[in-house]
Amino acid sequence: MKDQYNVAIMGATGAVGQVMMEILAERDFPLAELRLLASARSAGRELAFKGEKLVVQELSEASFEGIDIVLASAGGALSKQYNPHAVAAGAVVVDNTSAYRMDPEVPLVVPEINSDDLAHHRGIIANPNCSTIIMDVVVWPLYQRRRVKRIVVSTYQAVSGAGARAMEELEQQTRAVLAGEAADPEEFPHQIAFNLFSHNSDVGPEGYCEEEVKMIRETQKMFHDDQVQITATTIRVPVMRAHSEAINLEFAEPYPEQEAREILAQAPGVQIVDEPASSHFPMPIEASGLDAVLVGRIRQDISRPDGRGLDLWVSGDQLRKGAALNAVQIAEVLVARNMLQAAESV
Ligand code: A2P
Repeated sequence: MKDQYNVAIMGATGAVGQVMMEILAERDFPLAELRLLASARSAGRELAFKGEKLVVQELSEASFEGIDIVLASAGGALSKQYNPHAVAAGAVVVDNTSAYRMDPEVPLVVPEINSDDLAHHRGIIANPNCSTIIMDVVVWPLYQRRRVKRIVVSTYQAVSGAGARAMEELEQQTRAVLAGEAADPEEFPHQIAFNLFSHNSDVGPEGYCEEEVKMIRETQKMFHDDQVQITATTIRVPVMRAHSEAINLEFAEPYPEQEAREILAQAPGVQIVDEPASSHFPMPIEASGLDAVLVGRIRQDISRPDGRGLDLWVSGDQLRKGAALNAVQIAEVLVARNMLQAAESV
């Protein structure tokens, strides 16, 4: 077993890739080499890492020579194209795109929920959708005590989920609108400054957009429970980097609010912020930069006199726990459990 690893970030210059670099440094991941991969546009750029300057390389089929772990966050099409080359070169890929998440052969993992699923990997591990992670880190500990029958969730999603250029667009549009100029949407189909809109992924025949379908199917896969019923409404809001969600849960049995509070107070990756006297509850500006997902407004659903309903309000950093942190945590588990060898190669 090695004690230092060669890690490549595919999409290192992107919004998630940049946070992956920060988190690898913060957590002192045992690195021998960090290889930064991006498009030809960025090749040659220097990025600072732990006081050193690392030069960005253009992604190619040959980029994975000698690499142990790839953290992939350059979009689904590039993952499909390049992950097989990474696996052939002997690397394990932790893939932050949606390309492999529903593949039954590919573990879909949030370490606080289902790290044991990593044992079955064949070279690729999928990192779930950001809204799914932020919801499930909070719902799973409650579910473990009493089964959740149904989840009704509405999201308030930050622009960071659409990448670095979308974050710039929110800033530029805000300045433009304040200066009395036109907003000119480019990354999004609509004006995002001083507005919100339904998540712009494709809407399927049942009327659900892809983001909503991801939250439903990925939760069922990670919980190993096809029976948990979920309905979601996903909304993009003019917030820079943390997603918030209103979550209503229906349980198989009554769930006293006090017990839910006790469970959430102990839950890994979760922090309670619930102070009605000062109207202080989870907010994206306070969740940004934190590892924990914030949860508050914890209350019994009064529309269910049988006590089987709970309501929650959560905020979680989309770029950290919703993406880069979860990917690095998966890499940490792979290293700690000596699981970098695929169960069988793809
Ligand atoms: P680049 O900055 O060179 O375009 P985001 O999700 O924030 O938009 O980031 C996307 C990431 O994927 C960036 O690092 C981007 O690099 C990278 N990327 C986009 N297209 C390619 C490509 N054709 N080859 C390699 N990397 C790419």
